Amino acid sequence: MKVLVLNGPNLDRLGTREPLIYGSTTHADLVEMCVAEGKELGFDVEVRQTAYEGEMVKWLHEAADASIPVVLNGAAWTHYSIAVRDACSQLTGPLVEVHISNIHQREEFRHHSVISAIASGVIVGLGVEGYLLALRWLSLKK
Ligand code: DQA
Repeated sequence: MKVLVLNGPNLDRLGTREPLIYGSTTHADLVEMCVAEGKELGFDVEVRQTAYEGEMVKWLHEAADASIPVVLNGAAWTHYSIAVRDACSQLTGPLVEVHISNIHQREEFRHHSVISAIASGVIVGLGVEGYLLALRWLSLKK
């Protein structure tokens, strides 16, 4: 069973981007961790990252059409992109929203997510391990 892990803008910079907030794990490390966890759980995990909103929307359409479960870190889009939210609304499988940092402990503009209300669940502030926990939860829903 396939799972898409979709990461938004600036997450390709993990490891060098504000390491005190996001840690030292790189995006390549994250890909490796998610694929390995997926293998253990019987998932074929594909991790993608983009800074292009239209590309993210297309990937969400792909997931919607094939009923593929999604783990989404929309990064900055989380807080304002109605296009990403509208694409998420069309999903036919579960959606887990993940944030590496605890967005509620940070600047006020990060406190609101336009995605959370339509996500199956949300994991915030548990570091990159949040992605692995999301995959574990999805495996319970198989
Ligand atoms: C983030 C939190 C967002 O506010 C921020 O714009 C990101 C990363 C997180 O994973 O903690 O890019 O989604």
